[in-house]
Amino acid sequence: METVVSGIRSTGKLHLGNYYGAIQNFVKMQHEYNCYFFIADLHSLTTHPTPSDLHGNVKQVLVEYLAAGIDPEKATIYVQSDVPETAELYLYLNMNAYLGELERSTSFKDKVRTQPDNVNAGLLTYPVLMAADILLHRATKVPVGKDQEQHLEMARTFGNRFNRLYNHEYFPEPYAFNFSDNLVKIPGLDGKGKMGKSEGESNVVNLSDTPEVIRKKVLKAVTDSGPTAENQEKPVEIQNLFDLMKVVSSVDTYEHFDNLYNTCQIRYGDLKKQLAEDMIIATAPIREKIKEIEQDSSYLRQVARHGAIKARESASKTIREIREIIGFKNF
Ligand code: TRP
Repeated sequence: METVVSGIRSTGKLHLGNYYGAIQNFVKMQHEYNCYFFIADLHSLTTHPTPSDLHGNVKQVLVEYLAAGIDPEKATIYVQSDVPETAELYLYLNMNAYLGELERSTSFKDKVRTQPDNVNAGLLTYPVLMAADILLHRATKVPVGKDQEQHLEMARTFGNRFNRLYNHEYFPEPYAFNFSDNLVKIPGLDGKGKMGKSEGESNVVNLSDTPEVIRKKVLKAVTDSGPTAENQEKPVEIQNLFDLMKVVSSVDTYEHFDNLYNTCQIRYGDLKKQLAEDMIIATAPIREKIKEIEQDSSYLRQVARHGAIKARESASKTIREIREIIGFKNF
């Protein structure tokens, strides 16, 4: 059976972008593959969370994974820092990752732009740590959103380079995976790019947001003054709202508003109201489960312990084999 690995950086609440870009695929894949889904708390250290924020964020993601339907009996759910083999593989891969290629990564260049006073080495080698997560279980499929494609390509590069250096076909090539044809990109509410917390809390709709908060955020989404000619191409901020509608609303609803747009009769207020209500409906079952699961510390503890044990079984086997390939020997 093919192995699947994916994770989400623990920076707090998960949003619709995480859900539709990744988690929905996790939930489907757990029935068909050998799955490892982790909480990337080591990656989150690049932004220096306080100890209590760190733990709170890990807990939040664990709760929301479970609430969204990842089943710890089917998939291995674990906290990245519970598996120290990750850090060991990261070290080995770093010996073979070159400054030039790391500096060219889009995500690194974005961080240099958005947090110029904290350009640490962890940020630079973020794709190496991510490759370690994937190669640690020798995974071939990685359910991620479109923004992670370049990281996947780097993971293949690092795995192949290791194989060539030691003349050993050890790591298989991991590829981004999505059940639909294209990797999904969920836009945010700010009228620009993807849904992501780095663009501000008002840009994201969280799985745990209350209906009132969702309505407020969606009503504030950026729009323009409306179409002036029939069948006019939609400007990006309007296209974004339609893209979101495509994900959470019915086909009929989508077509209704698309027709209104194309005939210049659209009222954005109505579209936003509908979009907010459909988001509320789509997230309601998860929101309910979050409230339930977050109270249950003994269940959460049991899931994390069980996951760490299973993940370390797979990880320690890889590390044992790699140490041998590299040439470490006991005296
Ligand atoms: N970089 C991913 C993100 O920002 C998170 C991540 C870390 C990940 N390690 C991974 C995803 C390994 C897939 C596989 O969403």
